[in-house]
Amino acid sequence: MSSFPHDDVIARGRKTVVRRKRMADAADEYAWRSDVELARFDASTPVRVPFEDYQRNWCFDIRFTDTAGRSFAVEDETGQHIGNIMYYNRNAARREAELGISIGRRDCWAQGYGTDAVAALVAQLFRTTDLQRLYLHTLDWNTRAHRSFRKAGFADCGSTWRHGHTFITMEVRRQWVTSEVSAGSVPA
Ligand SMILES: CC(C)(COP(=O)(O)OP(=O)(O)OC[C@H]1O[C@@H](n2cnc3c(N)ncnc32)[C@H](O)[C@@H]1OP(=O)(O)O)[C@@H](O)C(=O)NCCC(=O)NCCS
Repeated sequence: MSSFPHDDVIARGRKTVVRRKRMADAADEYAWRSDVELARFDASTPVRVPFEDYQRNWCFDIRFTDTAGRSFAVEDETGQHIGNIMYYNRNAARREAELGISIGRRDCWAQGYGTDAVAALVAQLFRTTDLQRLYLHTLDWNTRAHRSFRKAGFADCGSTWRHGHTFITMEVRRQWVTSEVSAGSVPA
């Protein structure tokens, strides 16, 4: 029996649920986005603004931009918010988009949650949108991410160099994936 509101769930995996974000998620996200080690994994800069400022912008984005339709929370089997997953840079002509994920809770790393959430969202996107290809970039030394994305169906398709970092590009194509996962529809 689900405790989620009617259209809250975007995709269900075997051990994760990908759901729409809630205002209460802001505190977790602030903690994760301020974390120096987590920022290093995606070559970003950790957030340095006070929580109140972060929360104000975060709430604005969720209410008034299309962030809410593209960026989702990941929960484990117990309903705990363990990270976020998103798709962005959608190119309607090429029918492709970029995918990103961060499991913020360290105690949840390397237990299959990342693979499960990525596979669930990928299947759902291919089932409910016209996207033909999803791709992502991961730092060349991030072996855990690389292995996880491979298990979720992605294959290497090149590399890029940006701001002093080498990223491996990985992709998954619609025809490679059979849609086993069912849940709510993903915003177009
Ligand atoms: C990358 C991430 C999404 C992967 O999710 P996850 O749930 O931790 O990974 P999974 O358990 O699904 O798979 C991890 C794989 O890497 C292996 N692994 C775990 N720790 C590892 C390490 N330190 N070095 C190398 N491989 C490792 C696991 O054994 C597993 O592979 P296997 O099943 O073939 O043995 C998650 O760890 C995360 O968000 N990390 C922090 C931020 C980050 O790296 N984001 C990605 C930016 S592109």
